Amino acid sequence: MTTSSDWIARDAAAVWHPFTQHANWIDDRPTVVDRAEGPWLVDVDGRRYLDGVSSLWTTTLGHCHPEVNAAVADQLARLDHSTFLGTTHTPGVELAEALLASAPAGEGPELTKVFYAGDGSSAVEAALKIAYQYSTQTGRPRPRFVRLQHAYHGDTLGAVAVGGHDLFHDTYKPLLLETVGVPSPGDRELGPDRNATAAAALEATMAAQGDQVCAIVVEPMIQGAAGMLDYDAEFLRTARSLADAHGALLVFDEVATGFGRTGSMWAADHAGVAPDLLTCGKGITAGYLPLSAVLAAQHVYDAFLARPGDTGPRTFFHGHTYTGNPLCCAAAIAGLRVMEEQDVVARAAGLGERLGKLLEPLASHDGVVEVRRLGTMIGVEVAPGTARTGFDVCQAARERGVWLRPLGDTVIVMPPLTLGESETELLATALTEAVDEVLS
Ligand SMILES: Cc1ncc(COP(=O)(O)O)c(C=O)c1O
Repeated sequence: MTTSSDWIARDAAAVWHPFTQHANWIDDRPTVVDRAEGPWLVDVDGRRYLDGVSSLWTTTLGHCHPEVNAAVADQLARLDHSTFLGTTHTPGVELAEALLASAPAGEGPELTKVFYAGDGSSAVEAALKIAYQYSTQTGRPRPRFVRLQHAYHGDTLGAVAVGGHDLFHDTYKPLLLETVGVPSPGDRELGPDRNATAAAALEATMAAQGDQVCAIVVEPMIQGAAGMLDYDAEFLRTARSLADAHGALLVFDEVATGFGRTGSMWAADHAGVAPDLLTCGKGITAGYLPLSAVLAAQHVYDAFLARPGDTGPRTFFHGHTYTGNPLCCAAAIAGLRVMEEQDVVARAAGLGERLGKLLEPLASHDGVVEVRRLGTMIGVEVAPGTARTGFDVCQAARERGVWLRPLGDTVIVMPPLTLGESETELLATALTEAVDEVLS
């Protein structure tokens, strides 16, 4: 029988993994996943692990859900792929309609058009180009983006430019777009008035440079990759009114927060604010296949329509070979249908509350700095005893049958939204014991 060790050796000889220091790879004993069912990952040696981070924040309904499996299989029997450049297809249309029907409504424009992309980063990339081109086609070219410190929007260069995660982004600074960073309302180092301080900084930035800014780009309500830095809805309302006052677009990056993660369909719903552009990905296909989208307001789309007297094309010259792939769209349509039929957003809100209660005792643990949570997005920041304390806690949880992945010193918990009672308890117990083992 070929064991995990054999596969790890073959992997190490042939594969370069994302966000991975390969000098440690073999010693870290990576899990070799063979199959999955519901919230469980099963490795090639038959060991089962609860998928505590939803396979990088994607799996909403658990793995290999029968309805989503069937939808992908049906689609595969009908149409595998056809280009979205010059043709369309029924799953692409149906998914766009479903996404728009669920889009956040609130202070701001209605979102009426869907532009598909591949991963979260490529949706962000498209949104940035749309925002800049919008500014040029509405008569006021503005080359600058406002971004939040500690932000993470993906790894392509445009997405990195609007990020603010020093560890991930510093190396690439000489390559980046023009941006202006403002303090993040989630930054605990700003003190108890962090939300107001950040809002005042955003206001001052827009007052000084607003005429150069094509878009304000934020992760609404919580900065996930920064370690789950949550913040007040009021900041988003301020951002909405400042964008309007200065003629800039407001971009909400809901790649991590969308599709029920925060206990609402969208993080924007917590604030009652709608952006001009909304990026989404990850859970869009219930975690099955790579697909992302930009939802756009009508006034943005209209600026790209040709009109008499134009001196050049207004077309958005942007797209990818697999844009709107039918299999991805079919998975997404089925996933959204199951979410609606099974009231998954409300279940996610309940799961978040339950996990919050179970993890409450950790907040007063000597080895824990803070427990942060919005819905099912949870960060347990541990005291940095060694350079890899967060990682050590995750390894200790793995010994207890729960698979977690840290972001620096913050252990992330982000399970499938349909997690059952006993699995929820296992998750909380394993994490609590792991913290005890590593930090007592
Ligand atoms: C808010 C946000 N935007 C964009 C991305 C990038 O998505 P992807 O990894 O699919 O490119 C992420 C990934 O974690 C994210 O959290």
